[in-house]
Order: sequence, then C-alpha cells, then structure tokens
Amino acid sequence: MKRLVLASNNPGKLKEFGEMLAPLDFEVLPQQAFAIPEAEEPHPTFVENALAKARHAARLSGLPALADDSGLCVAALGGAPGVLSARYGGEPKSDARNNARLLADLAGQEDRRAHYVCVLVLLSHAQDPQPLIFEAEWHGEILREPRGRGGFGYDPLFLVPGLGLSAAEISSSQKNALSHRGLALAKLLERLRSRSA
Ligand code: IMP
Repeated sequence: MKRLVLASNNPGKLKEFGEMLAPLDFEVLPQQAFAIPEAEEPHPTFVENALAKARHAARLSGLPALADDSGLCVAALGGAPGVLSARYGGEPKSDARNNARLLADLAGQEDRRAHYVCVLVLLSHAQDPQPLIFEAEWHGEILREPRGRGGFGYDPLFLVPGLGLSAAEISSSQKNALSHRGLALAKLLERLRSRSA
C-alpha cells in the first residue's frame, strides 16, 4: 500500500479522500499523524495555497503529499467567500458561523448561484519541480435555510441542481461522484493510473 500524507486537518476532507483513493491502494494519512501544524494560506489564489500546503506537509513528513484548496464562490457576492471560505464567519473558524454569515449576506438576494472550487496538488517530495495540479467546479444554488446533516462546511446550504437536495442530504458516494473534490480527484486518479500503466 502506498502512503500519502493529506495536507489538511479537516476530517470531512480526510474521509472523502480516503474513500476515493482506497481503490488505488493508497493509504491516506492525516498530517496530524506527523504532528504537522496547519500551513499558512496567505495567497489570493486556490492554486498557490494548495501548493504551499502540499510543500509544507511533504517537507515535514518526508512522504508524497496531497493538498486541496477549496472554497465556495457566490455570484452575487463577486466570488466571495472564495479563498477565505474556511474563515468567512471570523476566528476561530466555524461552519455554523460561516453559514450564518452567508445567509445574512444573501438576505433579500434573488440571485443564489454559487459554485464550489477545488484545486488539488500532488507533490512526490518537497522539492518536486513538477507538481500534478487539477481543478474542478461544482455548480449549484444557495438555499434560504440549512437542510440535512451530512457533508461539512457549506453543504447544508448548497442546493444540488437536478436533485432538489442539499449537498448535506445526499450520500457520501453521491457527493464524491458529483463534487468539485470528487471531480478533481477523478482527474488525478486518471493521471496516476496512466502513469503506472
Ligand atoms: P480550505 O481548507 O482552506 O481548503 O477550506 C475550504 C473551506 O471551503 C472549508 O472549510 C469549507 O468552508 C468550504 N468547502 C470546501 N469544500 C467544501 C465542501 O465540499 N462542502 C462544504 N464546504 C466546503
């Protein structure tokens, strides 16, 4: 089994990546297993933050590292919260506060269009000059009140087009098949399969 450190302490992400990488014989280890503190995410773009997180985890673990930087971009808010999604409601970061702020910001707003973005970076080591980088989006709408208990983050407010369900009301396998993270990871897996073929 190949070991990979996930440059995140987010249990929601660890679960989703673990499920999706298991069939390729990857063991996904959280960076906490190496006592790696969360990296800074000071950059204005998802790709720069994902690279910074992957490099930090690869350097401190000595293992290949996978990082995702992801977030929610809301059309009526000019793309906010974007790279600031995790801390939109203030410090310390809290999904409940983030969701409350999003609903308040969209009060009275008819345009509810939004999409999640995920940028994935895989580094084989900290100095890897050729990171694998993949990006995907998941489009939907922001509900007027939270629905469902699954997923994490903004999922209770994210209406999945065509299903009439929030991202917190669908199963994790459905979410993995549709989501920004699932789609970006599918691209990464395709590349890894073609590499080892
Ligand atoms: P990151 O750890 O800096 O990538 O933070 C991403 C933030 O975006 C999370 O803390 C969530 O608030 C939000 N987010 C990203 N992906 C998802 C998702 O699949 N569902 C719900 N919220 C998400």
